[in-house]
Amino acid sequence: MKYNIALVRGDGIGPEIVDSAVRVLDKIADIYGHEFIYSSYLAGGAAIDEFGVPLPQETIDGCLASDSVLLGAVGGPKWDDQPPANRPERAILGLRAALGLFTNLRPAKIFPALANACTLRPDIAARGFDLVIVRELTGGIYFGERGRREGANGPEAYDTECYSVMEIERIAKVAFETAMKRRKSVVSIDKANVLESSRLWRETVERIAKDFPEVSLEHMYVDNAAMQLVRDPSHFDVVLTSNIFGDILSDEASQITGSIGMLASSSLGSTSRGLYEPIHGSAPDITGKGIANPIATILSAAMMLRFSFGLNVEADAIENAVNQTLNDGIRSADIAVNGQPTVGTAEMTDEILARL
Ligand code: IPM
Ligand code: MN
Repeated sequence: MKYNIALVRGDGIGPEIVDSAVRVLDKIADIYGHEFIYSSYLAGGAAIDEFGVPLPQETIDGCLASDSVLLGAVGGPKWDDQPPANRPERAILGLRAALGLFTNLRPAKIFPALANACTLRPDIAARGFDLVIVRELTGGIYFGERGRREGANGPEAYDTECYSVMEIERIAKVAFETAMKRRKSVVSIDKANVLESSRLWRETVERIAKDFPEVSLEHMYVDNAAMQLVRDPSHFDVVLTSNIFGDILSDEASQITGSIGMLASSSLGSTSRGLYEPIHGSAPDITGKGIANPIATILSAAMMLRFSFGLNVEADAIENAVNQTLNDGIRSADIAVNGQPTVGTAEMTDEILARL
């Protein structure tokens, strides 16, 4: 089969890790007889430098014309002084909106070989965990009305959390459908003891749950969820939540797997076209050193094969090769503990390729 993939390398370590994932995709194409045709587009700081804006129309059009998008990371200190509407992060938000990607899936599971890199107590790490955060991605406070104004006590600023029933319904459905393919449990996270938008969230999720009688549903306040996630992550299967709560909880969930350098994510809408990216950022501190961990991006490419192209065997092959590499003790700096020897980005990629 033939697939058009848009590559948005972005900034910082973005280009290094996307190139690693492309090497893996190319080997998959060789082994399984597919053809991946890549087109590269600028976004984030790289696009600001070239075009003056973080998300050029050409990038949006290119992504819309592709079968799927692989993104590295955007942002860095060089662009910190950009006005808010022109910050590199706007590129990601703009792409999510332009491609209608309302679902963000962020799986977090402990790789047995990395249990000793987990920051939780050894007995909790030993229990293992395997959860997926289903984060709403194109609504809520990220896209609500915002501004500055003169208030009673002088200048003030505001951002608005607003969710429509339609937005909650469609993301809740994704969560329940995801649960049906897993351990049939959804924990929906909100702040319904304080926020009206959360009360609507809860009511709506309750209603959708009726269509999935086999799935157990639990509601949890976000503060409690943040605590339960480090107390006993094995409690969670599918975690359904809003844009901002999902942003926060997914960083927390990633760190307890051992490293944020391990976690892939997929953003999907109502078509098979998705945007796949590691959940970590552009890591300016290690850019150009050749030491970034490419695994999250390589696993994001695997998710693309699975979710956008339906290539499950190929996706399994990548995931197994990553597992095998870790089981064989190969470590990048971010996942090495107790003075284990480390490899750089290119060597880690070579090791994974060798196990494909
Ligand atoms: C993420 C990132 C983005 C977000 C930023 C870069 C806008 O933190 O994908 O988690 O907040 O969604
Ligand atoms: Mn984030």
